[in-house]
Amino acid sequence: MDAAHRIGYLCAMLSYQHAYHAGGPADLHKHIALAELLALLTRKQRPITYMETHAGRGLYDLAAPESLKTGEAAEGIARITLPDCPFTTALQSIRARHGETAYPGSPAIAQALLRADDKIHLMELHPAEFAALKRNIDSAAIHRRDGYEGILALAPPKPRKGLVLVDPSYEVKSEYLQVADFTRKLMAKWPEATVMIWYPILRAARHREMLDALKLPFIKDEVTFDLKDNKGMTGSGLALVNAPYGSDAVFTGTRTLGAPVLR
Ligand SMILES: C[S@@+](CC[C@H](N)C(=O)[O-])C[C@H]1O[C@@H](n2cnc3c(N)ncnc32)[C@H](O)[C@@H]1O
Repeated sequence: MDAAHRIGYLCAMLSYQHAYHAGGPADLHKHIALAELLALLTRKQRPITYMETHAGRGLYDLAAPESLKTGEAAEGIARITLPDCPFTTALQSIRARHGETAYPGSPAIAQALLRADDKIHLMELHPAEFAALKRNIDSAAIHRRDGYEGILALAPPKPRKGLVLVDPSYEVKSEYLQVADFTRKLMAKWPEATVMIWYPILRAARHREMLDALKLPFIKDEVTFDLKDNKGMTGSGLALVNAPYGSDAVFTGTRTLGAPVLR
């Protein structure tokens, strides 16, 4: 890749702002599953390490102009009655602290559900998102660093039992194969890690190339939904590598009738 391409690539990656999508159906799918996994991984007393390649700002306000502009939260979190589950516990504790229009990003969910001796490492490259993340999350190591390079450099961490969330924006097509390549390298360095990868389901179905390129056993959970305007996204997918015991109750394959969280 030459310098002009590298600059174009970085600009595309950093033009994405998660505030427009917070609390939408795809976010909810990812966050409900993340909270379930964190609950499973902390059933035993042994501490864990939680890491994110792409953390975002950690905390969102659903009354902010970005959120109102896309209306995704109105089609997601605002439309459902949440059952008693780990995500609801995290949401309630965040809203008790930050108000009723607050919505937790994945770092805030982890902070709400993890224990004092668990370790959290978050990577975020965008300067403004990084600064906001530092303000919003106080019990984590926060790195302004490329998420793929940063997590590989820290792996294997202590404690060795742990979860890595891989949640890029897929603004550039090559990111699908980059995720697969990263996951294979990470599992070679840190075989005990559980890795959860989020991916959009678009008409071009590029996620299939990524799942084929993983060349590792995984379980998945895919939901389809019909959004008014989400860049042609027809659904949300999660792949789980090195699934902990009990996670097959959450990762149940492909559902073709719409996200159950919305029903
Ligand atoms: C989909 S958002 C993350 C959302 C977050 N995981 C959540 O669920 O609340 C992706 C984030 O990755 C950041 N980003 C983009 N490229 C990155 C890279 N190479 N390394 C680290 N962060 C990156 C973007 O600035 C953006 O904030």
